[in-house]
Amino acid sequence: MAESIFDLKCFSATETEAAGARLADFMKQGNCPRFVALCGGLGAGKTAFTRGFCSVMCPGATVRSPSFAIVNEYRGDPDVYHFDVWRIKDDDDLYSTGFYDYADRKGIVVCEWADSIAYALPESYIKVKFDGNGDDPRHIVAELIKGDEVTVC
Ligand SMILES: Nc1ncnc2c1ncn2[C@@H]1O[C@H](COP(=O)(O)OP(=O)(O)O)[C@@H](O)[C@H]1O
Ligand SMILES: [Mg+2]
Repeated sequence: MAESIFDLKCFSATETEAAGARLADFMKQGNCPRFVALCGGLGAGKTAFTRGFCSVMCPGATVRSPSFAIVNEYRGDPDVYHFDVWRIKDDDDLYSTGFYDYADRKGIVVCEWADSIAYALPESYIKVKFDGNGDDPRHIVAELIKGDEVTVC
């Protein structure tokens, strides 16, 4: 089952960051899955969104794309584990990053390119879909995926 959290049009990177902060505020209210799946193409705004998200969860953290490191950890309340799985080839590759160990930790996983690891997503998670790139506005839709839903972005 999917429940809408928000559906926004963002006209600047600052607005994309504000959308990320808005999701963090929503999650701070509690009773949310601790996994955020960011789905969208290159340049769609996933890292900018994560920066805004972390401005609420991990004030003072420097958020950079983890596309080479695969995961960056930011200390906060709660901690945020920022993945970019663009370079992940298969499940063995994903396993070797420690991806599955993060499910047992108390922080929140925010994962860029989550649509490429649909097989590894938890049963319940928050899905954020991005459309648009370049100078165009971004359409950003956040929803809560609960339970038995097929996890395809
Ligand atoms: N709503 C927006 N309108 C215009 N540019 C944006 C918007 N959101 C983000 N950007 C810009 O798009 C570029 C790519 O953003 P980034 O977050 O790195 O994308 P991704 O992580 O999805 O590849 C950055 O220069 C960012 O500042
Ligand atoms: Mg990125």
